[in-house]
Amino acid sequence: MTVQVSRSSKFMTLERHINEGEHLHPQATGQYSGLLKGLSLAAKLVWREVTKAGLVNILGTTDRMNISGDVIKKLDEFADQTIYRMMDHLGYLCVMASEENEDLLHIPDDYPSGKYVLLFDPLDGSGNIDADVTIGSIFSLYQRVTSSGKPTLRDVLQPGNRQVGAGYILYGPSMMFVYCTGHGVHGFTFDPSVGEFLLSHENIRIPAQGSIYSMNEGNYGGWDPAMQRYSRWIKETDPATGRPYSSRYIGSLVADVHRTLLYGGIYCYPGDSKNPGGKLRLMYENNPLAFIVEHAGGAATNGSERTLDIQPASLHERAPFFVGSRENIRIVTEFLNGTRKE
Ligand code: AHG
Ligand code: MN
Ligand code: MN
Repeated sequence: MTVQVSRSSKFMTLERHINEGEHLHPQATGQYSGLLKGLSLAAKLVWREVTKAGLVNILGTTDRMNISGDVIKKLDEFADQTIYRMMDHLGYLCVMASEENEDLLHIPDDYPSGKYVLLFDPLDGSGNIDADVTIGSIFSLYQRVTSSGKPTLRDVLQPGNRQVGAGYILYGPSMMFVYCTGHGVHGFTFDPSVGEFLLSHENIRIPAQGSIYSMNEGNYGGWDPAMQRYSRWIKETDPATGRPYSSRYIGSLVADVHRTLLYGGIYCYPGDSKNPGGKLRLMYENNPLAFIVEHAGGAATNGSERTLDIQPASLHERAPFFVGSRENIRIVTEFLNGTRKE
């Protein structure tokens, strides 16, 4: 049997891609690259457990609630601890924070401290685990802003426009690692037979407009009239094609945003009468995904302000989130600010 090997495309592993990215910055110390490699290894460990989830009896819930009031699944804890333990000793981070922990996650005193800050949602969409639906991990990187001593909240409460990198890992039919360091958005698919992430989606660009919308319309009754008008309008016509939009809602933000990135359209999680900030957490969910989508040519807003410009006031604050193709975001913004009614 002959095996055809293409000579025209590079055989690009995630590690090679990270190294080549580092070479674009002659002053780079290797810390940043080391962080990304640490995260990719953590992803493999989480994935190993996720793929076993249906096989072994680890799907029960613990008795604890996380600080957002959700019941923590065991895999959330595993992912949380795995990412922390994979990243705490490398000497690249000065502090971390995760959706599952109320306070800052400090680096143990016996490990060296670095200049970066890592924020993460260890397992997003975890309510979907029992149904074998795609879930993911989301991460966001900043540089430290205080000059010395123990890092403080000031190092973490930075607006998303100060991110120096962001990405997510999807645990779906394949595992994917999607990341951006400011030079395009790149997606890698895991090849389990060799244990490597391979470049499968180079320089992802979101379509300028799309005809898929994604929102939990079960919350309709609590939305303000402008949001209700938008949700009625979107079911009537697609101005581009004359057809109605299609509705898709996985209920794992990371998977819904990934589809939006590839196919175009819009994802919305608005505030409602009970929760004016909606459900999603600015620091662990909205900001990293907004960074990715903007770098792919899309847009993200809380309805009145660009997501990446919001100055966070607390570690776990929530913010309404509208993200997707530029044209779709322009239209929803007009509805939300009242300049458009139909
Ligand atoms: P997490 O599992 O990290 O707590 O996040 C769950 C989030 C997000 O993934 C998803 O899009 C959203 O919850 C779904 O919320 P609804 O069930 O209210 O639609
Ligand atoms: Mn989440
Ligand atoms: Mn989570």
